[in-house]
Amino acid sequence: MAWTRKDLLGLEDLSREEIELILTTAESFKQVSTREIKKVPALRGKTVVNLFYEPSTRTRVSFEVAAKRLSADVINIATETSSVKKGETLVDTGRNIEALKADIIVIRHNASGAAAVLSRHVNISVVNAGDGWHEHPTQALLDIFTLKEKLGKISGLNVSIVGDIAHSRVARSNIWGLTKLGAKVTVCAPKMLIPVAIEQMGVRVTENIDDALSCADAVNVLRMQFERDEENVFPKQLEYFKNFAITEERLKKAKKNIVVMHPGPINRGVEMSSEVADGANSVILEQVTNGIAVRMAVLFLVAQAKDKLKNHEDID
Ligand code: CP
Repeated sequence: MAWTRKDLLGLEDLSREEIELILTTAESFKQVSTREIKKVPALRGKTVVNLFYEPSTRTRVSFEVAAKRLSADVINIATETSSVKKGETLVDTGRNIEALKADIIVIRHNASGAAAVLSRHVNISVVNAGDGWHEHPTQALLDIFTLKEKLGKISGLNVSIVGDIAHSRVARSNIWGLTKLGAKVTVCAPKMLIPVAIEQMGVRVTENIDDALSCADAVNVLRMQFERDEENVFPKQLEYFKNFAITEERLKKAKKNIVVMHPGPINRGVEMSSEVADGANSVILEQVTNGIAVRMAVLFLVAQAKDKLKNHEDID
Protein backbone atom coordinates (compact mmCIF):
# COMPACT_ATOMS: atom_id res chain seq x y z
CA MET A 1 0.00 0.00 0.00
CA ALA A 2 1.04 3.62 -0.48
CA TRP A 3 1.11 6.22 2.29
CA THR A 4 -1.13 9.16 1.33
CA ARG A 5 -1.30 11.33 4.47
CA LYS A 6 0.65 14.59 4.67
CA ASP A 7 0.33 14.53 8.49
CA LEU A 8 0.67 12.06 11.35
CA LEU A 9 -1.74 13.20 14.06
CA GLY A 10 -2.50 9.97 15.90
CA LEU A 11 -2.93 6.21 15.60
CA GLU A 12 -6.72 6.29 16.09
CA ASP A 13 -7.17 7.39 12.46
CA LEU A 14 -4.71 4.90 10.95
CA SER A 15 -5.54 1.51 9.48
CA ARG A 16 -3.66 -1.63 10.41
CA GLU A 17 -1.99 -1.49 6.99
CA GLU A 18 -0.81 2.09 7.49
CA ILE A 19 0.72 1.20 10.88
CA GLU A 20 2.43 -1.82 9.34
CA LEU A 21 3.78 0.36 6.52
CA ILE A 22 5.41 2.72 9.04
CA LEU A 23 6.93 -0.26 10.89
CA THR A 24 8.36 -1.89 7.74
CA THR A 25 9.71 1.49 6.54
CA ALA A 26 11.35 1.91 9.96
CA GLU A 27 12.96 -1.53 9.64
CA SER A 28 14.70 -0.44 6.46
CA PHE A 29 15.83 2.85 8.04
CA LYS A 30 17.15 1.16 11.19
CA GLN A 31 20.32 -0.05 9.53
CA VAL A 32 21.25 3.52 8.45
CA SER A 33 22.21 4.23 12.07
CA THR A 34 24.64 1.28 12.04
CA ARG A 35 26.66 2.64 9.09
CA GLU A 36 29.88 4.56 9.49
CA ILE A 37 28.24 7.50 7.73
CA LYS A 38 24.79 7.55 9.30
CA LYS A 39 23.01 9.51 6.60
CA VAL A 40 20.82 9.01 3.53
CA PRO A 41 19.75 11.80 1.16
CA ALA A 42 16.00 11.08 1.35
CA LEU A 43 15.01 14.52 2.71
CA ARG A 44 17.84 16.60 1.25
CA GLY A 45 16.59 20.15 0.66
CA LYS A 46 13.71 19.78 3.15
CA THR A 47 13.43 21.73 6.40
CA VAL A 48 11.99 20.22 9.59
CA VAL A 49 10.95 22.55 12.43
CA ASN A 50 10.64 21.10 15.94
CA LEU A 51 8.06 23.29 17.70
CA PHE A 52 7.92 22.22 21.34
CA TYR A 53 5.57 23.93 23.80
CA GLU A 54 6.42 21.38 26.54
CA PRO A 55 9.71 20.01 27.88
CA SER A 56 11.16 16.97 26.10
CA THR A 57 14.45 15.13 25.97
CA ARG A 58 13.89 11.90 24.01
CA THR A 59 11.27 12.97 21.48
CA ARG A 60 12.85 16.28 20.49
CA VAL A 61 16.38 14.94 20.15
CA SER A 62 15.14 11.80 18.40
CA PHE A 63 13.21 13.84 15.79
CA GLU A 64 16.28 16.02 15.28
CA VAL A 65 18.59 13.02 14.84
CA ALA A 66 16.04 11.34 12.53
CA ALA A 67 15.69 14.42 10.34
CA LYS A 68 19.47 14.91 10.15
CA ARG A 69 20.01 11.23 9.22
CA LEU A 70 17.62 11.89 6.31
CA SER A 71 19.77 14.94 5.36
CA ALA A 72 17.04 17.48 6.20
CA ASP A 73 17.83 20.86 7.73
CA VAL A 74 16.49 21.11 11.28
CA ILE A 75 15.39 24.12 13.30
CA ASN A 76 14.40 23.80 16.95
CA ILE A 77 11.99 26.32 18.45
CA ALA A 78 11.76 26.34 22.23
CA THR A 79 8.61 28.31 22.92
CA GLU A 80 10.11 29.69 26.15
CA THR A 81 12.45 31.85 24.03
CA SER A 82 10.12 32.50 21.07
CA SER A 83 7.37 35.01 20.28
CA VAL A 84 4.89 32.61 21.89
CA LYS A 85 5.97 34.39 25.10
CA LYS A 86 4.65 37.63 23.54
CA GLY A 87 1.23 36.06 22.98
CA GLU A 88 1.53 34.73 19.42
CA THR A 89 -1.11 32.08 18.73
CA LEU A 90 -0.36 28.53 17.64
CA VAL A 91 -1.93 29.15 14.23
CA ASP A 92 0.04 32.36 13.66
CA THR A 93 3.27 30.64 14.69
CA GLY A 94 2.51 27.76 12.31
CA ARG A 95 1.68 30.07 9.40
CA ASN A 96 4.91 31.99 9.95
CA ILE A 97 6.92 28.77 9.95
CA GLU A 98 5.18 27.87 6.67
CA ALA A 99 6.00 31.33 5.26
CA LEU A 100 9.64 30.63 6.11
CA LYS A 101 9.34 27.68 3.68
CA ALA A 102 9.67 24.85 6.17
CA ASP A 103 8.33 21.49 4.98
CA ILE A 104 7.40 19.68 8.20
CA ILE A 105 6.39 20.93 11.66
CA VAL A 106 6.90 18.47 14.52
CA ILE A 107 4.76 19.75 17.37
CA ARG A 108 4.48 18.95 21.06
CA HIS A 109 1.76 20.86 22.89
CA ASN A 110 0.02 20.69 26.25
CA ALA A 111 -3.45 20.94 24.64
CA SER A 112 -5.16 17.84 23.25
CA GLY A 113 -5.95 18.43 19.57
CA ALA A 114 -3.25 21.10 19.03
CA ALA A 115 -1.56 19.14 16.22
CA ALA A 116 -4.91 18.65 14.44
CA VAL A 117 -5.74 22.37 14.75
CA LEU A 118 -2.35 23.30 13.30
CA SER A 119 -2.74 20.83 10.43
CA ARG A 120 -6.01 22.50 9.41
CA HIS A 121 -4.31 25.91 9.13
CA VAL A 122 -1.10 25.08 7.27
CA ASN A 123 -0.49 23.21 4.03
CA ILE A 124 2.87 21.78 5.11
CA SER A 125 3.13 18.48 6.99
CA VAL A 126 2.39 18.29 10.72
CA VAL A 127 3.65 15.47 12.95
CA ASN A 128 2.23 15.10 16.45
CA ALA A 129 5.00 14.68 19.04
CA GLY A 130 2.47 14.52 21.91
CA ASP A 131 -0.67 16.62 22.44
CA GLY A 132 -2.04 16.92 25.96
CA TRP A 133 -3.57 13.65 27.17
CA HIS A 134 -4.65 12.73 23.63
CA GLU A 135 -1.96 10.93 21.60
CA HIS A 136 1.80 10.43 21.25
CA PRO A 137 1.79 8.37 18.06
CA THR A 138 5.54 8.06 17.43
CA GLN A 139 6.09 6.88 21.03
CA ALA A 140 3.54 4.09 20.53
CA LEU A 141 5.02 3.21 17.15
CA LEU A 142 8.51 2.87 18.63
CA ASP A 143 7.10 0.82 21.52
CA ILE A 144 5.38 -1.51 19.05
CA PHE A 145 8.46 -1.65 16.80
CA THR A 146 10.59 -2.66 19.82
CA LEU A 147 8.08 -5.29 20.93
CA LYS A 148 7.94 -6.79 17.43
CA GLU A 149 11.73 -6.84 17.28
CA LYS A 150 11.91 -8.65 20.65
CA LEU A 151 9.00 -11.08 20.29
CA GLY A 152 8.68 -11.44 16.50
CA LYS A 153 5.02 -10.46 16.28
CA ILE A 154 2.30 -8.28 17.79
CA SER A 155 -0.86 -10.22 16.98
CA GLY A 156 -1.91 -12.42 19.90
CA LEU A 157 0.49 -10.86 22.44
CA ASN A 158 -0.75 -9.92 25.91
CA VAL A 159 0.45 -6.41 26.70
CA SER A 160 -0.20 -4.73 30.04
CA ILE A 161 0.00 -0.96 30.39
CA VAL A 162 0.53 0.02 34.02
CA GLY A 163 0.36 3.45 35.63
CA ASP A 164 -1.30 6.78 35.12
CA ILE A 165 -3.63 5.75 32.28
CA ALA A 166 -5.94 8.73 32.82
CA HIS A 167 -3.37 11.38 31.91
CA SER A 168 -1.38 9.36 29.41
CA ARG A 169 -1.22 10.09 25.68
CA VAL A 170 1.28 7.21 25.47
CA ALA A 171 -1.36 4.80 26.82
CA ARG A 172 -4.00 5.99 24.35
CA SER A 173 -1.72 5.72 21.30
CA ASN A 174 -0.45 2.31 22.43
CA ILE A 175 -4.01 1.03 22.89
CA TRP A 176 -5.02 2.18 19.39
CA GLY A 177 -1.89 0.75 17.78
CA LEU A 178 -1.69 -2.55 19.66
CA THR A 179 -5.37 -3.44 19.32
CA LYS A 180 -5.37 -2.63 15.58
CA LEU A 181 -2.44 -5.05 15.20
CA GLY A 182 -4.26 -7.80 17.12
CA ALA A 183 -2.64 -7.62 20.59
CA LYS A 184 -4.69 -8.10 23.76
CA VAL A 185 -4.25 -5.08 26.02
CA THR A 186 -4.78 -4.87 29.79
CA VAL A 187 -4.60 -1.56 31.64
CA CYS A 188 -3.74 -1.51 35.33
CA ALA A 189 -3.86 1.46 37.70
CA PRO A 190 -5.47 2.70 40.91
CA LYS A 191 -9.16 3.40 40.26
CA MET A 192 -8.81 7.19 40.10
CA LEU A 193 -6.25 6.86 37.28
CA ILE A 194 -8.42 4.67 35.04
CA PRO A 195 -10.55 6.76 32.63
CA VAL A 196 -14.30 6.13 32.61
CA ALA A 197 -15.40 3.74 29.81
CA ILE A 198 -11.83 2.83 28.81
CA GLU A 199 -13.16 -0.70 28.12
CA GLN A 200 -14.80 0.76 25.02
CA MET A 201 -11.30 1.01 23.53
CA GLY A 202 -11.17 -2.81 23.61
CA VAL A 203 -8.99 -3.25 26.71
CA ARG A 204 -9.29 -5.30 29.91
CA VAL A 205 -9.07 -3.34 33.17
CA THR A 206 -7.59 -4.47 36.46
CA GLU A 207 -6.50 -2.76 39.65
CA ASN A 208 -4.36 -5.75 40.63
CA ILE A 209 -0.74 -5.55 39.50
CA ASP A 210 -0.10 -9.28 39.94
CA ASP A 211 -3.11 -9.99 37.72
CA ALA A 212 -1.76 -7.55 35.08
CA LEU A 213 1.64 -9.25 35.11
CA SER A 214 0.58 -12.89 35.38
CA CYS A 215 -0.06 -13.58 31.69
CA ALA A 216 1.70 -10.58 30.13
CA ASP A 217 4.24 -10.99 27.34
CA ALA A 218 5.16 -7.34 27.86
CA VAL A 219 4.52 -4.60 30.37
CA ASN A 220 4.65 -0.94 29.41
CA VAL A 221 5.15 1.09 32.59
CA LEU A 222 4.01 4.71 32.57
CA ARG A 223 5.39 7.62 34.51
CA MET A 224 3.28 8.72 37.46
CA GLN A 225 2.44 12.32 36.60
CA PHE A 226 2.25 13.63 40.16
CA GLU A 227 2.42 17.21 38.84
CA ARG A 228 -1.15 16.70 37.55
CA ASP A 229 -2.51 15.79 41.00
CA GLU A 230 -4.25 19.13 41.47
CA GLU A 231 -7.02 17.65 43.62
CA ASN A 232 -4.59 15.66 45.76
CA VAL A 233 -6.28 12.33 45.03
CA PHE A 234 -3.31 10.32 43.70
CA PRO A 235 -1.79 7.68 45.98
CA LYS A 236 1.40 8.91 47.61
CA GLN A 237 4.70 7.77 46.08
CA LEU A 238 5.45 5.09 48.69
CA GLU A 239 1.90 3.79 48.58
CA TYR A 240 2.02 3.63 44.77
CA PHE A 241 5.37 1.82 44.86
CA LYS A 242 4.04 -0.73 47.33
CA ASN A 243 0.88 -1.50 45.34
CA PHE A 244 1.76 -0.97 41.66
CA ALA A 245 5.50 -0.68 41.03
CA ILE A 246 7.30 -3.21 38.86
CA THR A 247 9.87 -4.79 41.14
CA GLU A 248 12.16 -7.82 40.82
CA GLU A 249 9.96 -9.66 43.31
CA ARG A 250 6.86 -9.10 41.16
CA LEU A 251 8.69 -10.01 37.95
CA LYS A 252 9.65 -13.40 39.47
CA LYS A 253 5.94 -14.31 39.30
CA ALA A 254 5.61 -13.14 35.65
CA LYS A 255 6.70 -14.88 32.43
CA LYS A 256 10.47 -15.35 32.48
CA ASN A 257 11.03 -13.38 29.28
CA ILE A 258 8.50 -10.62 29.92
CA VAL A 259 9.55 -7.48 28.04
CA VAL A 260 9.68 -4.40 30.31
CA MET A 261 9.18 -1.05 28.61
CA HIS A 262 8.92 2.56 29.76
CA PRO A 263 8.57 5.64 27.52
CA GLY A 264 10.69 7.74 29.89
CA PRO A 265 11.41 9.78 31.86
CA ILE A 266 11.41 7.18 34.67
CA ASN A 267 10.59 7.96 38.29
CA ARG A 268 12.97 5.37 39.75
CA GLY A 269 11.62 3.92 42.97
CA VAL A 270 8.08 5.03 42.14
CA GLU A 271 6.68 3.14 39.13
CA MET A 272 9.60 0.72 38.88
CA SER A 273 12.67 -0.21 40.85
CA SER A 274 16.12 0.63 39.51
CA GLU A 275 16.93 -3.10 39.41
CA VAL A 276 14.09 -3.63 36.93
CA ALA A 277 14.80 -0.46 34.92
CA ASP A 278 18.39 -1.59 34.38
CA GLY A 279 17.69 -5.34 34.45
CA ALA A 280 17.75 -8.13 31.87
CA ASN A 281 14.08 -7.77 30.87
CA SER A 282 14.27 -4.02 30.28
CA VAL A 283 14.34 -2.70 26.70
CA ILE A 284 14.03 0.95 27.72
CA LEU A 285 17.17 2.18 25.97
CA GLU A 286 16.44 0.03 22.91
CA GLN A 287 13.11 1.88 22.68
CA VAL A 288 15.05 5.15 22.55
CA THR A 289 17.34 3.85 19.79
CA ASN A 290 14.38 2.52 17.79
CA GLY A 291 12.70 5.92 18.06
CA ILE A 292 15.18 7.25 15.50
CA ALA A 293 14.23 4.68 12.83
CA VAL A 294 10.51 5.08 13.50
CA ARG A 295 10.72 8.87 13.27
CA MET A 296 12.84 8.65 10.11
CA ALA A 297 10.06 6.51 8.61
CA VAL A 298 7.34 8.97 9.65
CA LEU A 299 9.20 12.05 8.36
CA PHE A 300 10.01 10.25 5.09
CA LEU A 301 6.43 9.05 4.50
CA VAL A 302 4.69 12.36 5.23
CA ALA A 303 7.21 14.28 3.09
CA GLN A 304 6.75 11.86 0.21
CA ALA A 305 2.96 12.09 0.45
CA LYS A 306 3.12 15.89 0.55
CA ASP A 307 5.33 15.94 -2.57
CA LYS A 308 2.83 13.70 -4.39
CA LEU A 309 -0.07 15.95 -3.37
CA LYS A 310 1.87 18.99 -4.56
CA ASN A 311 2.62 17.38 -7.93
CA HIS A 312 -1.10 16.67 -8.40
CA GLU A 313 -1.93 20.28 -7.45
CA ASP A 314 0.66 21.52 -9.98
CA ILE A 315 -0.79 19.31 -12.77
CA ASP A 316 -4.36 20.45 -11.93
N1 CP B 1 8.85 9.59 25.99
C1 CP B 1 8.87 10.93 25.87
O1 CP B 1 7.98 11.53 25.24
O2 CP B 1 9.93 11.53 26.49
P1 CP B 1 10.24 13.10 26.40
O3 CP B 1 9.16 13.81 27.15
O4 CP B 1 11.60 13.26 27.00
O5 CP B 1 10.21 13.47 24.94
